[in-house]
Amino acid sequence: MRVLGIETSCDETGVAVYDTARPGPEGLRAHAVYSQIALHAEYGGVVPELASRDHVRKLLPLIRQTLGEAGLTTADLDGVAYTAGPGLVGALLVGAGVARSLAWALDVPAVAVHHMEGHLLAPLLEDPELKAPFVALLVSGGHTQLVGVDAIGQYRLLGETLDDAAGEAFDKTAKLMGLPYPGGPQLAALAEQGRPGVFKFARPMTDRPGLDFSFSGLKTQVLLAWRDSDQSEQTRADIARGFEDAVIDTLAIKCQRALDAAGCDTLVVAGGVGANKRLRVKLEEIARKRDGRVCFPRPALCTDNGAMIAFAGALRLEAGQRAGNAVHVQPRWDMASLPAVQTVAA
Ligand code: KG4
Ligand code: ZN
Repeated sequence: MRVLGIETSCDETGVAVYDTARPGPEGLRAHAVYSQIALHAEYGGVVPELASRDHVRKLLPLIRQTLGEAGLTTADLDGVAYTAGPGLVGALLVGAGVARSLAWALDVPAVAVHHMEGHLLAPLLEDPELKAPFVALLVSGGHTQLVGVDAIGQYRLLGETLDDAAGEAFDKTAKLMGLPYPGGPQLAALAEQGRPGVFKFARPMTDRPGLDFSFSGLKTQVLLAWRDSDQSEQTRADIARGFEDAVIDTLAIKCQRALDAAGCDTLVVAGGVGANKRLRVKLEEIARKRDGRVCFPRPALCTDNGAMIAFAGALRLEAGQRAGNAVHVQPRWDMASLPAVQTVAA
Protein backbone atom coordinates (compact mmCIF):
# COMPACT_ATOMS: atom_id res chain seq x y z
CA MET A 1 0.00 0.00 0.00
CA ARG A 2 1.44 3.38 -1.05
CA VAL A 3 0.38 6.14 1.32
CA LEU A 4 0.87 9.86 0.91
CA GLY A 5 1.51 11.56 4.28
CA ILE A 6 0.77 15.25 4.87
CA GLU A 7 1.95 17.20 7.93
CA THR A 8 0.89 20.83 8.50
CA SER A 9 0.26 21.06 12.26
CA CYS A 10 2.64 23.94 12.96
CA ASP A 11 5.44 25.65 11.04
CA GLU A 12 6.68 22.84 8.81
CA THR A 13 4.99 21.61 5.64
CA GLY A 14 5.91 17.92 5.38
CA VAL A 15 5.03 15.46 2.63
CA ALA A 16 6.12 11.83 2.13
CA VAL A 17 5.20 8.59 0.42
CA TYR A 18 5.49 5.37 2.42
CA ASP A 19 5.16 1.99 0.75
CA THR A 20 4.19 -0.89 3.08
CA ALA A 21 5.40 -3.44 0.52
CA ARG A 22 8.96 -2.48 1.52
CA PRO A 23 9.12 -2.65 5.34
CA GLY A 24 11.66 -0.53 7.18
CA PRO A 25 13.44 2.58 5.93
CA GLU A 26 13.24 1.27 2.33
CA GLY A 27 9.49 1.88 2.46
CA LEU A 28 10.08 5.62 2.59
CA ARG A 29 9.96 6.33 -1.15
CA ALA A 30 10.46 10.08 -0.79
CA HIS A 31 9.99 12.81 1.77
CA ALA A 32 10.32 16.58 1.74
CA VAL A 33 9.95 19.25 4.38
CA TYR A 34 9.54 22.96 3.86
CA SER A 35 10.33 24.88 7.04
CA GLN A 36 8.73 28.26 7.75
CA ILE A 37 11.46 29.25 10.22
CA ALA A 38 12.57 32.31 8.18
CA LEU A 39 8.96 33.51 7.92
CA HIS A 40 8.39 33.51 11.69
CA ALA A 41 11.90 34.51 12.80
CA GLU A 42 11.26 38.27 12.86
CA TYR A 43 8.31 37.73 15.26
CA GLY A 44 10.31 35.49 17.61
CA GLY A 45 7.73 32.70 17.42
CA VAL A 46 5.12 31.06 15.19
CA VAL A 47 2.37 33.42 13.94
CA PRO A 48 -0.60 31.06 13.34
CA GLU A 49 -2.23 33.00 10.51
CA LEU A 50 1.04 33.31 8.60
CA ALA A 51 1.65 29.59 9.14
CA SER A 52 -1.73 28.66 7.60
CA ARG A 53 -1.22 30.92 4.58
CA ASP A 54 2.23 29.52 3.94
CA HIS A 55 0.96 25.93 4.08
CA VAL A 56 -1.58 26.96 1.40
CA ARG A 57 1.28 28.25 -0.77
CA LYS A 58 3.67 25.35 -0.25
CA LEU A 59 1.62 22.17 0.12
CA LEU A 60 0.60 21.42 -3.47
CA PRO A 61 4.06 22.12 -4.97
CA LEU A 62 5.61 19.96 -2.23
CA ILE A 63 3.21 17.08 -3.02
CA ARG A 64 4.18 17.33 -6.72
CA GLN A 65 7.87 17.44 -5.83
CA THR A 66 7.65 14.44 -3.46
CA LEU A 67 5.70 12.29 -5.92
CA GLY A 68 8.22 13.25 -8.62
CA GLU A 69 11.15 12.22 -6.39
CA ALA A 70 9.43 8.89 -5.68
CA GLY A 71 8.85 8.37 -9.41
CA LEU A 72 5.10 8.12 -8.78
CA THR A 73 1.93 9.91 -9.81
CA THR A 74 -1.27 10.45 -7.82
CA ALA A 75 -2.71 7.40 -9.62
CA ASP A 76 -0.18 5.20 -7.78
CA LEU A 77 -1.49 6.19 -4.33
CA ASP A 78 -3.61 3.77 -2.27
CA GLY A 79 -4.36 6.13 0.59
CA VAL A 80 -3.78 9.60 2.05
CA ALA A 81 -2.81 10.24 5.69
CA TYR A 82 -2.89 13.68 7.27
CA THR A 83 -2.18 15.21 10.66
CA ALA A 84 -5.59 16.01 12.19
CA GLY A 85 -4.20 17.29 15.51
CA PRO A 86 -2.99 18.38 17.95
CA GLY A 87 -1.75 21.66 16.49
CA LEU A 88 -2.77 25.06 15.16
CA VAL A 89 -6.33 24.86 13.87
CA GLY A 90 -5.82 26.89 10.67
CA ALA A 91 -2.63 25.07 9.79
CA LEU A 92 -4.23 21.67 10.41
CA LEU A 93 -7.22 22.60 8.23
CA VAL A 94 -4.97 23.26 5.23
CA GLY A 95 -3.48 19.75 5.35
CA ALA A 96 -6.78 18.08 6.20
CA GLY A 97 -8.63 19.93 3.42
CA VAL A 98 -6.06 19.04 0.75
CA ALA A 99 -5.69 15.44 1.96
CA ARG A 100 -9.40 14.80 2.21
CA SER A 101 -10.10 16.32 -1.22
CA LEU A 102 -7.25 14.43 -2.87
CA ALA A 103 -8.44 11.12 -1.39
CA TRP A 104 -11.98 11.89 -2.56
CA ALA A 105 -10.83 12.73 -6.08
CA LEU A 106 -8.62 9.62 -6.31
CA ASP A 107 -11.28 7.43 -4.69
CA VAL A 108 -8.82 6.12 -2.09
CA PRO A 109 -9.26 6.11 1.70
CA ALA A 110 -8.03 8.92 3.93
CA VAL A 111 -6.95 8.56 7.54
CA ALA A 112 -6.54 11.15 10.29
CA VAL A 113 -3.24 10.83 12.18
CA HIS A 114 -2.42 12.09 15.68
CA HIS A 115 0.75 14.18 15.37
CA MET A 116 2.31 12.74 18.55
CA GLU A 117 1.54 9.17 17.48
CA GLY A 118 3.40 10.05 14.28
CA HIS A 119 6.43 11.13 16.33
CA LEU A 120 6.12 8.08 18.57
CA LEU A 121 6.04 5.59 15.68
CA ALA A 122 8.85 7.22 13.66
CA PRO A 123 11.49 4.98 15.32
CA LEU A 124 9.53 1.92 14.11
CA LEU A 125 9.81 3.19 10.55
CA GLU A 126 13.58 3.05 10.96
CA ASP A 127 13.61 -0.30 12.77
CA PRO A 128 10.81 -2.77 11.97
CA GLU A 129 12.18 -5.18 14.62
CA LEU A 130 11.22 -2.76 17.37
CA LYS A 131 8.12 -4.12 19.10
CA ALA A 132 5.83 -2.95 21.93
CA PRO A 133 5.74 -2.91 24.90
CA PHE A 134 8.10 0.00 25.37
CA VAL A 135 8.25 3.41 27.04
CA ALA A 136 8.27 6.47 24.80
CA LEU A 137 9.73 9.86 25.67
CA LEU A 138 8.03 12.47 23.50
CA VAL A 139 9.94 15.73 23.61
CA SER A 140 8.88 18.43 21.18
CA GLY A 141 8.17 22.15 21.16
CA GLY A 142 4.62 21.60 22.38
CA HIS A 143 4.81 18.35 24.37
CA THR A 144 6.89 16.58 26.96
CA GLN A 145 5.36 13.24 27.78
CA LEU A 146 6.32 9.80 28.98
CA VAL A 147 4.01 7.27 27.41
CA GLY A 148 3.59 3.57 28.14
CA VAL A 149 3.09 1.84 24.79
CA ASP A 150 1.36 -1.49 25.39
CA ALA A 151 0.69 -2.04 21.69
CA ILE A 152 0.56 0.21 18.64
CA GLY A 153 -2.42 2.47 19.23
CA GLN A 154 -2.65 1.66 22.95
CA TYR A 155 -1.07 4.45 24.91
CA ARG A 156 -0.96 5.25 28.63
CA LEU A 157 0.21 8.66 29.76
CA LEU A 158 2.76 8.06 32.53
CA GLY A 159 3.84 11.66 33.04
CA GLU A 160 3.92 15.03 31.35
CA THR A 161 5.05 18.60 31.81
CA LEU A 162 3.00 20.78 34.09
CA ASP A 163 4.11 23.96 32.28
CA ASP A 164 6.66 24.46 29.46
CA ALA A 165 7.55 21.62 27.11
CA ALA A 166 11.27 20.73 26.91
CA GLY A 167 11.60 22.24 23.41
CA GLU A 168 9.73 25.33 24.51
CA ALA A 169 12.14 25.69 27.45
CA PHE A 170 15.09 25.46 25.02
CA ASP A 171 13.50 28.06 22.73
CA LYS A 172 12.57 30.52 25.49
CA THR A 173 15.93 30.19 27.23
CA ALA A 174 17.73 30.79 23.95
CA LYS A 175 15.60 33.86 23.31
CA LEU A 176 16.29 35.45 26.67
CA MET A 177 20.03 35.16 25.99
CA GLY A 178 19.54 36.87 22.62
CA LEU A 179 19.70 33.87 20.28
CA PRO A 180 17.45 33.97 17.21
CA TYR A 181 14.29 31.84 16.86
CA PRO A 182 14.00 28.88 17.05
CA GLY A 183 16.66 28.77 19.69
CA GLY A 184 16.67 25.07 20.63
CA PRO A 185 19.24 23.82 18.10
CA GLN A 186 21.29 27.05 18.45
CA LEU A 187 21.38 26.77 22.23
CA ALA A 188 22.49 23.16 21.89
CA ALA A 189 25.27 24.19 19.48
CA LEU A 190 26.38 26.95 21.86
CA ALA A 191 26.42 24.50 24.79
CA GLU A 192 29.15 22.55 23.00
CA GLN A 193 31.50 25.49 23.67
CA GLY A 194 30.30 25.79 27.28
CA ARG A 195 32.17 24.42 30.28
CA PRO A 196 30.27 21.91 32.44
CA GLY A 197 29.62 22.87 36.06
CA VAL A 198 30.32 26.62 35.74
CA PHE A 199 26.57 27.23 36.08
CA LYS A 200 24.59 24.64 37.99
CA PHE A 201 20.80 24.72 37.65
CA ALA A 202 18.14 22.64 39.40
CA ARG A 203 16.85 19.29 38.10
CA PRO A 204 13.17 20.20 38.59
CA MET A 205 10.85 17.70 40.30
CA THR A 206 13.48 14.97 40.56
CA ASP A 207 13.58 15.27 44.37
CA ARG A 208 10.12 13.72 44.73
CA PRO A 209 8.47 10.64 43.29
CA GLY A 210 6.47 10.85 40.08
CA LEU A 211 6.96 11.18 36.34
CA ASP A 212 5.78 14.72 35.70
CA PHE A 213 8.06 17.54 34.57
CA SER A 214 8.25 21.29 35.10
CA PHE A 215 10.64 23.40 33.04
CA SER A 216 9.41 26.96 33.50
CA GLY A 217 11.39 27.58 36.72
CA LEU A 218 14.60 26.61 34.97
CA LYS A 219 14.08 29.38 32.46
CA THR A 220 13.78 31.90 35.33
CA GLN A 221 16.99 30.57 36.88
CA VAL A 222 18.75 31.15 33.57
CA LEU A 223 17.29 34.65 33.29
CA LEU A 224 18.66 35.59 36.72
CA ALA A 225 22.07 34.03 36.02
CA TRP A 226 22.30 35.80 32.64
CA ARG A 227 21.25 39.20 34.07
CA ASP A 228 23.81 39.01 36.86
CA SER A 229 26.61 37.86 34.56
CA ASP A 230 29.16 39.71 32.41
CA GLN A 231 27.13 38.55 29.36
CA SER A 232 30.29 37.55 27.50
CA GLU A 233 30.27 34.92 24.75
CA GLN A 234 31.94 32.38 27.07
CA THR A 235 29.36 33.04 29.81
CA ARG A 236 26.53 32.57 27.34
CA ALA A 237 28.02 29.24 26.29
CA ASP A 238 28.59 28.20 29.94
CA ILE A 239 24.98 29.03 30.84
CA ALA A 240 23.75 27.15 27.74
CA ARG A 241 25.77 24.14 28.87
CA GLY A 242 24.40 24.37 32.44
CA PHE A 243 20.85 24.62 31.14
CA GLU A 244 21.23 21.75 28.68
CA ASP A 245 22.78 19.55 31.37
CA ALA A 246 19.84 20.29 33.70
CA VAL A 247 17.23 19.41 31.06
CA ILE A 248 19.05 16.28 29.91
CA ASP A 249 19.64 15.02 33.46
CA THR A 250 16.00 15.64 34.34
CA LEU A 251 14.74 13.80 31.27
CA ALA A 252 17.17 10.94 31.90
CA ILE A 253 16.18 10.54 35.56
CA LYS A 254 12.48 10.41 34.67
CA CYS A 255 13.08 7.97 31.79
CA GLN A 256 14.80 5.57 34.17
CA ARG A 257 11.93 5.88 36.62
CA ALA A 258 9.38 5.27 33.86
CA LEU A 259 11.23 2.16 32.66
CA ASP A 260 11.34 0.86 36.25
CA ALA A 261 7.63 1.57 36.75
CA ALA A 262 6.69 -0.09 33.44
CA GLY A 263 9.01 -3.06 34.11
CA CYS A 264 10.55 -2.65 30.69
CA ASP A 265 13.99 -1.92 29.19
CA THR A 266 13.16 -0.44 25.79
CA LEU A 267 12.99 3.31 25.47
CA VAL A 268 11.88 5.09 22.33
CA VAL A 269 12.64 8.80 21.97
CA ALA A 270 10.83 11.05 19.51
CA GLY A 271 10.09 14.71 18.83
CA GLY A 272 12.34 17.66 17.99
CA VAL A 273 14.40 17.60 21.21
CA GLY A 274 15.21 13.96 20.36
CA ALA A 275 17.62 15.46 17.80
CA ASN A 276 19.75 16.76 20.69
CA LYS A 277 23.11 15.00 20.49
CA ARG A 278 23.94 15.02 24.19
CA LEU A 279 20.49 13.73 25.12
CA ARG A 280 21.05 10.84 22.72
CA VAL A 281 24.44 10.03 24.25
CA LYS A 282 23.08 10.21 27.81
CA LEU A 283 20.10 7.93 27.12
CA GLU A 284 22.32 5.45 25.27
CA GLU A 285 24.55 5.30 28.36
CA ILE A 286 21.53 4.59 30.57
CA ALA A 287 20.28 1.86 28.24
CA ARG A 288 23.70 0.23 28.21
CA LYS A 289 23.87 0.22 32.02
CA ARG A 290 20.54 -1.60 32.33
CA ASP A 291 21.18 -3.91 29.42
CA GLY A 292 18.29 -2.41 27.54
CA ARG A 293 17.99 -0.40 24.35
CA VAL A 294 17.08 3.10 23.28
CA CYS A 295 15.79 3.93 19.80
CA PHE A 296 15.79 7.30 18.07
CA PRO A 297 14.77 8.18 14.56
CA ARG A 298 17.44 9.89 12.45
CA PRO A 299 17.50 13.62 13.40
CA ALA A 300 15.51 14.64 10.26
CA LEU A 301 12.68 12.37 11.39
CA CYS A 302 12.79 13.70 14.99
CA THR A 303 11.53 17.14 13.98
CA ASP A 304 8.19 17.55 12.18
CA ASN A 305 7.96 15.67 8.89
CA GLY A 306 5.53 13.93 6.55
CA ALA A 307 7.27 10.54 6.74
CA MET A 308 6.04 9.83 10.27
CA ILE A 309 2.48 10.72 9.21
CA ALA A 310 2.62 8.53 6.09
CA PHE A 311 3.97 5.65 8.20
CA ALA A 312 1.48 5.94 11.10
CA GLY A 313 -1.34 6.45 8.59
CA ALA A 314 -0.29 3.36 6.62
CA LEU A 315 -0.47 1.23 9.80
CA ARG A 316 -3.98 2.51 10.53
CA LEU A 317 -5.15 2.19 6.90
CA GLU A 318 -3.87 -1.39 6.77
CA ALA A 319 -5.86 -2.07 9.94
CA GLY A 320 -8.96 -0.88 8.08
CA GLN A 321 -9.33 2.54 9.72
CA ARG A 322 -10.76 5.39 7.68
CA ALA A 323 -11.53 9.09 8.21
CA GLY A 324 -15.06 10.25 7.42
CA ASN A 325 -15.73 12.50 4.43
CA ALA A 326 -15.91 15.68 6.51
CA VAL A 327 -12.79 17.80 6.91
CA HIS A 328 -12.35 17.47 10.64
CA VAL A 329 -9.38 18.49 12.82
CA GLN A 330 -8.72 18.36 16.57
CA PRO A 331 -6.41 21.11 17.84
CA ARG A 332 -6.46 19.34 21.23
CA TRP A 333 -6.49 15.57 21.13
CA ASP A 334 -5.71 13.07 23.89
CA MET A 335 -3.54 10.27 22.57
CA ALA A 336 -4.99 7.79 25.06
CA SER A 337 -8.37 8.16 23.29
CA LEU A 338 -7.06 6.72 20.00
CA PRO A 339 -8.49 3.43 18.76
CA ALA A 340 -6.13 0.46 18.99
CA VAL A 341 -4.48 -0.72 15.78
CA GLN A 342 -5.34 -4.34 15.18
CA THR A 343 -3.33 -5.52 12.24
CA VAL A 344 -5.49 -7.58 9.93
CA ALA A 345 -4.30 -11.21 9.99
CA ALA A 346 -2.64 -12.20 6.73
O1 KG4 B 1 8.78 18.04 17.07
P1 KG4 B 1 9.11 19.41 16.63
O2 KG4 B 1 9.81 19.61 15.32
O3 KG4 B 1 7.85 20.34 16.58
C1 KG4 B 1 6.79 20.23 17.48
O4 KG4 B 1 5.91 19.36 17.25
O5 KG4 B 1 6.87 21.00 18.47
O6 KG4 B 1 10.01 20.03 17.83
C2 KG4 B 1 10.53 21.32 17.74
C3 KG4 B 1 11.27 21.62 19.03
C4 KG4 B 1 11.67 23.08 19.13
O7 KG4 B 1 11.32 23.56 20.41
C5 KG4 B 1 13.19 23.03 18.93
O8 KG4 B 1 13.85 24.06 19.58
C6 KG4 B 1 13.53 21.69 19.55
O9 KG4 B 1 12.46 20.84 19.13
N1 KG4 B 1 14.82 21.18 19.06
C7 KG4 B 1 15.90 20.99 19.84
C8 KG4 B 1 16.94 20.51 18.99
N2 KG4 B 1 16.44 20.43 17.72
C9 KG4 B 1 15.15 20.83 17.78
N3 KG4 B 1 16.08 21.17 21.15
C10 KG4 B 1 17.29 20.87 21.66
N4 KG4 B 1 18.32 20.42 20.93
C11 KG4 B 1 18.21 20.24 19.61
N5 KG4 B 1 19.25 19.78 18.89
ZN1 ZN C 1 6.07 17.68 16.31
